[in-house]
Amino acid sequence: NTGKLWGGRFAGGPSPELEALSRSTHFDWRLTPYDLAGSRAHANALHRAGLLTEADHAELLRGLDALGERYAAGTLRPDDSDEDVHGALERLLLEEVGPDVGGRLRAGRSRNDQIATLFKVFLRDHCRVVVGQVLDLVDVLAAQASDHLAGTPTVMPGRTHLQHAQPVLLAHHLMAHAWPLLRDVDRFLDWDARVAADSPYGSGALAGQSLGLDPVGVSAELGFTGSSANSIDGTAARDFVAEFAFVCAQVGVDVSRLAEEVILWSTREFGFATLHDSWSTGSSIMPQKKNPDIAELARGKAGRLVGNLSGLLATLKALPLAYNRDLQEDKEPVFDSVDTLEVLLPAFTGMVATLVFDRERLAELAPQGFSLATDVAEWLVRQNVPFRVAHELAGACVRRCEELGLELHELTDEQFAAISPALTPGVRDVLSAEGSVASRDGRGGTAPVRVREQLDELGAVVAAH
Ligand code: ARG
Repeated sequence: NTGKLWGGRFAGGPSPELEALSRSTHFDWRLTPYDLAGSRAHANALHRAGLLTEADHAELLRGLDALGERYAAGTLRPDDSDEDVHGALERLLLEEVGPDVGGRLRAGRSRNDQIATLFKVFLRDHCRVVVGQVLDLVDVLAAQASDHLAGTPTVMPGRTHLQHAQPVLLAHHLMAHAWPLLRDVDRFLDWDARVAADSPYGSGALAGQSLGLDPVGVSAELGFTGSSANSIDGTAARDFVAEFAFVCAQVGVDVSRLAEEVILWSTREFGFATLHDSWSTGSSIMPQKKNPDIAELARGKAGRLVGNLSGLLATLKALPLAYNRDLQEDKEPVFDSVDTLEVLLPAFTGMVATLVFDRERLAELAPQGFSLATDVAEWLVRQNVPFRVAHELAGACVRRCEELGLELHELTDEQFAAISPALTPGVRDVLSAEGSVASRDGRGGTAPVRVREQLDELGAVVAAH
């Protein structure tokens, strides 16, 4: 009695080399609870179709439950003769309930529809876990944003091309990392709804089943909302795996962008933020070091998540219908993506939650690097100066400042007037980071009133999940 689900037509057993290549229990064993749930639903379907007596049905369910308990206790193991999780569990079931009863379970199903179905259930479970973790990260970003909006809102240098561009609120900047993550959550939920409607059970090897089983009933029992319309598609499609891997990769990419900023912010040169001791690491030789390892691992793991996606797509490209053994290669990359995110996100969230920003330094740097030049130009526009002219005049102010080694707000009224009579002392109203930020009060802008509104908007979206 071995964990092979085939053999009748073969004169000899498989070579050890083939067995070694073919074996997948070292990675698919974790699907055991899902395979057992599928088998339970299948036993019920066989029973409903009149293919199992009451006694055999009850005995099969008892056997499956017994295996589930042993798995939960950590005492159920595949052995070297088992090809995959399905074969191993059939072998173990036969040991549990005997070959006469155990040998009835496989009727009407194939590992091809089995794996496609239970892989979906597995990913849907982990989808919920990862969505929860991404929402936790969104929550701490919103909490930091809220802290830095209270009282005097924290201003910081907003950058494009990594150069000082215009002052923005720190809260606004942090929220700009929250929205993409919220879109990733929506991507996961869209994916989930699509996958939920498409249980491959009943597709058989590729052509469907002839035993009068009830795929819709089974799909409901496994938490799906519908079953595959096409048995070939049901067994051969893996776009659900690639799409899941994409959303994981996108989360990784989104997190890596914040990670890179945290790494920069915590340098001596930037000095924007300090990492909490419990969320940073030291050096084995340099006693003074405090390193942003969590952020660096996040940045590094984004590459790994992207690699998992591209490897998967390469495997799927040009595969003919229907099932091909290549498809077994779909599991390790996406298991890795799930494991990577599930260990990364809690650490990353803790790091973000405990980041301490240097409000004074951020405020001091915000207006530097002539980041108020746009405000001068737009102030001139409000005085009815054409923008082309205003842009030139503000540029001339910057040039003058560079010559004198001053920032824009340090020019005197006379120096402004010498550049253009249009530059009356009223221009000073916009020559502070706070004034600049407050003036950008259109929807989506960085003015405190808008950012407060934005936080409420984000809160409402989060609450709807
Ligand atoms: N373990 C396989 C997979 O992950 C399912 C087995 C299908 N094997 C077969 N020879 N049709 O895709």
